[in-house]
Amino acid sequence: MSPVCYPDADMLLPVDDVGDPMAEKVTIVGTGYVGLVTGVCLARSGHDVTCVDVDTDKVAALSSGQPTIYEPGIAELLAEGLENGRLRFLTIEPGWRELVSDITIIAVGTPMAENGAADLSHVRSVVEGVCAEADRPFTLVMKSTVPPGTGSVLQERYLDGAGCAISYVSNPEFLREGHAIRDWFATDRIVLGSDDPDAIAAMQRLYADIDAPVVVTDVASAETIKYASNAFLSTKISFINEIANVCDAVGADVDAVASGVGLDERIGPQFLRAGIGYGGSCFPKDTRALDFISTLNGYQFTLLKSVIDVNNRQRILPVIHLARALPDLHTRTVAVLGLAFKPDTDDTRESPALDIIPLLLEEGAGVTAYDPLAGELDLGDGTRQVATVWEALEGASAAIVVTEWPEFINLDWARVRMHMADPAIIFDGRNCLDRAAIEDSGLTYMAVGRPGAHRTDGGA
Ligand code: UDX
Ligand code: UDX
Repeated sequence: MSPVCYPDADMLLPVDDVGDPMAEKVTIVGTGYVGLVTGVCLARSGHDVTCVDVDTDKVAALSSGQPTIYEPGIAELLAEGLENGRLRFLTIEPGWRELVSDITIIAVGTPMAENGAADLSHVRSVVEGVCAEADRPFTLVMKSTVPPGTGSVLQERYLDGAGCAISYVSNPEFLREGHAIRDWFATDRIVLGSDDPDAIAAMQRLYADIDAPVVVTDVASAETIKYASNAFLSTKISFINEIANVCDAVGADVDAVASGVGLDERIGPQFLRAGIGYGGSCFPKDTRALDFISTLNGYQFTLLKSVIDVNNRQRILPVIHLARALPDLHTRTVAVLGLAFKPDTDDTRESPALDIIPLLLEEGAGVTAYDPLAGELDLGDGTRQVATVWEALEGASAAIVVTEWPEFINLDWARVRMHMADPAIIFDGRNCLDRAAIEDSGLTYMAVGRPGAHRTDGGA
C-alpha cells in the first residue's frame, strides 16, 4: 500500500507499521453486488468476515456456496472462504449487538428515488439499528454510495448519541461489474474519509495487502470523490457520443476520431467508445443523484445535466433511426439483441434495452428479445423473450445490438440474412460489428457515428 495521500498525510501509518492483514474482524451489512464482492475478497485476504443480509433466501444460497450474482471468480472465492471458515453468512436475526464487529461495513443498496435523489432509507435504517444496539466501540464504514454530506448527517443523527464510541469512515468502492475481483485487488486507489486517525489506521490494516495509493481525506471529500469519478466517466461517454453525432453529420468516423483523441495521454483511450450510452446500477443513478444534491445545495451543475440529457437521447437513437427507415414500423418485428447493460454480466439495471423496447412497442412494432445471460424479464405485452439469437432474428426486419456480447460480434452474417425479412437492418448500437461482413451479406448496416452507415436501401 503506497503512502500517497491528500490532504492529511499525518493520518497515514508508515507502510511497515500497517501490521498483520489477518488480524481484522469484519461485518458486512448487505450482500448485494458490492457487499458480496467485498466479503469474499476480504476473506481471501485472511480476514474473519461475517456477511449479513435481510434476505433469508440469499443468505441460504450463499451459505451453501451458491453465488447470487454473476461475476467471474466469485464462486471460487466464495467456496474457499466457506471452506476455510473465514467467511459466513447470517440473517439479521441475532441482532446488531451480536453482529457488529470492530470494523462494520455498510453495503446496502442506495437506489434512485423517483425524483432522482439517492434513496437512503436502507442506509438510514441499518445505521440507526446498529447505533441503537451496539454496546462497544467500533468503526462504521460506509461503502454504499451516499451523496456528499450524508456521513456528517448520519454521525450527528445516530453515531453521536450512541451508547458507545463509533468512528465513521467513508470508503467508496470503484468496482466494475465483470471485473470486480480484479478491481478489488488491483484498484487504482483506496479512498478513506474520516476525522479519526485510529479508524484510518484500522482501515489501512484491513487493506494492507493491496498495493495502491491511499487518499486520506475528510468524509465529505471522500463521498464526493466517488460521485465525481462516476460523473467524469459518464461525461467522457456522453462527450464521445456527441462527437459521434457530429461525425454522422459531417461524414467522419467516430472510431478513428476516438483513437486519435485517446492517444493524447492527457485524455487517455478509455471510456471513449461511442454507442447508445451508459447504463448499469451506477452511472445513471449517481449522475442523477449528484445533479439532485447540487441543485438542493443551490448550485446548477449545467454540464452534468447535459451529460444526462445526451445519454437519455442516445439510448433511444436506434428507435429514431428505425422509425425513419421503416415508415411501416408498426407492421414489422424488431429483434433486440442484448438485455444486460454491458457484456459479461446478467445485470439489466438501467440497460438501454429497457428504454428501447417500450418505445418500439409504442410504435406498434413486434419485439423479440434475446440475451445470453440475463434471466427472464417482464418486457411488456408484444415482446417475446426467446432462448436463442436465431429465434430472435427469425422474420425480423431489423435487429438492434444493444450489448456487445461476443456471440453477436461473431455472428454468421450470411445465416443472419437468411433468417431476417427485408430490409434486414442491423443497428449496431455499440459500434462493435464488422460492417463490411454485414454489408457483404446483403444486410443493411446502421451505427452511431460511422460514415454512410445509415443506408436504408437494403444493403449491397
Ligand atoms: C451497491 C451500493 O451499496 C450502492 O450504494 C452502490 O451505488 C452500488 O452498489 P448493490 O450491491 O448493487 O449496491 O445493491 P443490491 O444488489 O441492491 O444489494 C443490497 C443488499 O442489501 C441486498 O442483498 C439486500 O437484501 C440487502 N439489504 C438491504 C439489507 O441487508 N438490509 C437492508 O436494510 C436493506
Ligand atoms: C461503473 C464504474 O466503471 C465503476 O468504477 C463504478 O464502481 C460502478 O460503475 P459498471 O457500471 O460496472 O462500473 O460498468 P462500466 O464498465 O463502467 O460501464 C458502464 C456503462 O457505460 C455501460 O453501459 C457501458 O456499456 C457504458 N460505456 C462504457 C460506454 O458506453 N462507453 C465506454 O466507452 C465505456
